[in-house]
Amino acid sequence: MSTSIESVLQENRVFNPSPEFMAQANVSGMDAYKALCAEAEADYEGYWGRLAREHIVWKQPFSTVLDESGAPFYKWFPDGKLNVSYNCLDKNVEAGLGDKVAIIFEADKGEVTKVTYSELLSKVAKFANALKNLGVKKGDRVVIYLPMSVEGVVAMQACARIGATHSVVFGGFSAQSLRDRIEDAGAVLIITADEQCRGGKNIPLKPAVDEALTLGGTDSIRNVIVYKRTGGPAVMVEGRDLWWDDVVAGQSDVCEPEWVEAEHPLFLLYTSGSTGKPKGVQHSTGGYLLHAVLTMKWTFDLKPDDVFWCTADIGWVTGHTYITYGPLACGGTEIVFEGVPTFPDAGRFWRMIQDHKVNIFYTAPTAIRSLIKAADGNPDVAHPKNFDLTSLRVLGSVGEPINPEAWMWYHEHIGGGRCPVMDTFWQTETGGHVITPLPGVTPLVPGSCTLPFPGIMVSVVDEAGHDVEWGKGGFLVIKRPWPSMIRTIWNDPERFKKSYFPEDLGGKLYLAGDGAVRDATTGYFTIMGRIDDVLNVSGHRMGTMEIESALVSHPLVAEAAVVGKPHDIKGEAIVAYVVLKRARPVGDEAKQIVNELRNHVGHEIGPIAKPDEIRFGDNLPKTRSGKIMRRLLRTLAKGEEITSDVSTLENPHILEQLKEVVK
Ligand code: WTA
Repeated sequence: MSTSIESVLQENRVFNPSPEFMAQANVSGMDAYKALCAEAEADYEGYWGRLAREHIVWKQPFSTVLDESGAPFYKWFPDGKLNVSYNCLDKNVEAGLGDKVAIIFEADKGEVTKVTYSELLSKVAKFANALKNLGVKKGDRVVIYLPMSVEGVVAMQACARIGATHSVVFGGFSAQSLRDRIEDAGAVLIITADEQCRGGKNIPLKPAVDEALTLGGTDSIRNVIVYKRTGGPAVMVEGRDLWWDDVVAGQSDVCEPEWVEAEHPLFLLYTSGSTGKPKGVQHSTGGYLLHAVLTMKWTFDLKPDDVFWCTADIGWVTGHTYITYGPLACGGTEIVFEGVPTFPDAGRFWRMIQDHKVNIFYTAPTAIRSLIKAADGNPDVAHPKNFDLTSLRVLGSVGEPINPEAWMWYHEHIGGGRCPVMDTFWQTETGGHVITPLPGVTPLVPGSCTLPFPGIMVSVVDEAGHDVEWGKGGFLVIKRPWPSMIRTIWNDPERFKKSYFPEDLGGKLYLAGDGAVRDATTGYFTIMGRIDDVLNVSGHRMGTMEIESALVSHPLVAEAAVVGKPHDIKGEAIVAYVVLKRARPVGDEAKQIVNELRNHVGHEIGPIAKPDEIRFGDNLPKTRSGKIMRRLLRTLAKGEEITSDVSTLENPHILEQLKEVVK
C-alpha cells in the first residue's frame, strides 16, 4: 500500500485530547477506555449484553447473548426481536424528537431540504406500505440503485421496516455489475431513479437497470420503482416499472414494523475479494445496529445537538452505517449530500460545513488529498481559510490509510488544531469501526488508527496464527466474534469460512485481509494494506481478478494481470498488463486499444475500475511453472528497476516491453 510504514514508525508527533474535550466526552480518559476493555475481557457476553440492552429498544428481550454452537456462523442475541427502522424513527418521535431535523439534504446545485423525524417516519411508513402492496415480504431481497438522496435513506429504512433485505448497488457500477448482484441476491424488486445529478450534470441511471434486466438471470425481478429526480427521459416498461410518487400515493403513513429476530439479515452488500466474483456480505439486524450506535456515540462523541456529516455514498458500507442507520438510531441531525466535493468549486465541503454548522465531519483520505491540492492551486476560492469552520468538534477518516501529511493538514486547516482526527479502520465485513481512537481518550499519532474499539479483540499474528511481538508485522485478525460481524457470504457459506476463518490460522481467527504492525512501545496499530489481491483506489475496494476478468472478456485480449501502484491522491492506481491475441500494438494503434479496453472495463464493472495505465507485452513474466510474477509487475508499475534475480523467469526479455506505458 501507499502509506509509507517508515514515515509512520518514525512519527513522533502526539496529540493529546484537550481537557475541555475530555470534560464533555461520552468516553472520557484512558481509564474509562481501559475499564470498558477490562469489562469485555472479564465477561465478554456480559459486556455486549449490557450494551445491547442499554442502547437498543427490543420488542422482545434476548436471553442468550452469543451462540457459538455453529461457529464460525455466530449468532448474537438470537432470541431477541427488534426492528431497526423503529429504533431509528418511531423511538425518536416517541421521545419527543418529532420536530427535530433528521436529515439536511443538500442537492448538487445547492438547494437545501430539511426533513424532520416525524416527516421521515411518515415517508418511510408510506413507502414501506407501497412495497408491501407490491407483494414484498419479510426475507425478500430488494436491490437499491439510487443516487445520494433522502429517498435512498427512505428506501433502505422502508426495507428494514418490513423485514426485506436490501442490497444497495453503488450508482457508479455498470449494468453488468448490477445484473450480477441482482442474480446472486435473487432480488424481487429494484428501486432506482431516472437520473442522478453530479457536478452540475444529469447522468442517466434508469438505462443501466433496463440493460441489466436484458442480460439474463434476472427473472426474479417483478417490479422497478423509479424515483423521478430530474424528469429527464426514462423509458418505463408497462407492467414492470412504476413511478415512486404513484406507488406511494394514497398509502397510509402508519406501518407496523415487522419485528424480526436479531439475526434476520438487514442487508447484503457486495464487495470485492481475491477471486473474480464479488461477495454478498450478509449483515444481521441486532448486532449490526448495536455497533452502529456505539461507534456513533464513542468514536464520534455524538451529542444530541450535533450536526453530523459523513460524505460517503450509501452504495458503500460507510454510507450504510454512518448515514442510513447510525446517526438516525442516535436521534442525530445529519447531512445527506448529493454532489461532489469539487462543484461548483473545491470549497464546497468547507462552505457546507460553515453553512450547516457541522460539528462532526467524516470523509476519506482521497478527498482530503485532492482538496489539499485544490486549495493550494486556488487559495482564494478553495482554501479552507476562507470559511468559518469553528463549529467542528471531531473529524474522521475512513476507507484507506491516511498519510501523516494529509492527517496534519486535516488537523490544522480543517480542525483548526483543536479537533481530534479519528482514523477509523474497518471493513464492509466488520459493520463498523474495529480499530479507532476515541476522541476524549486516545493520544493521536498521525498515520496510526491507534487502538481497538472497546470489546473488539484485535491482534496481529504470523502464518501459523500465533501473536507476533509488537513491532513485527503480520496478519490483522479479530480473535473473538463481535456483534456487527459479517454473518456469511450470501449463497456461499463455504467461501465465508475459507476467506475469513482459514484453517491455516486454526479456523477460529477472523482474518481481515490486511497486514498490520503494532508499535513496539505503545501497541498502536498501523495498517500496511491488503495482503490479498484487493486494491484500494480512492477508498473504493476493487479486486484485481475482477478487473482481469473484465479485460479478458474483451475479444482482443488473451491474458491480463492487474496490480496497484502508489498514487498521490487516489492512494492506489490501477495498472494493467495486457497480452493481446494478436501482435503487440504500438503508437496510435496502442492508444486506441487502450481507450477501447478502458471503456470496456467501465462497461463491465463501472468507471471506478478503469485502469489508470495499460501496458502491452507479447507475454507476461512467468516462472517456468507458468506462474505470473506479480511482484515484478508491481516493481515495474512503480517505475523502479528490477534488482532481484530473474533467472527463474521463463521469459526475462518481456520485462523490457512491460516498462513501456502507453500514454
Ligand atoms: C482499508 C471501508 C487503513 C483496508 C470501511 C480494509 C483502511 C478495506 C482504513 C476495507 C483505515 C479501511 N486505515 N486502511 N482507517 N479503513 N481501510 O470494505 O484495507 O470498502 O481492509 O470498508 O479498506 O474496505 P471496505
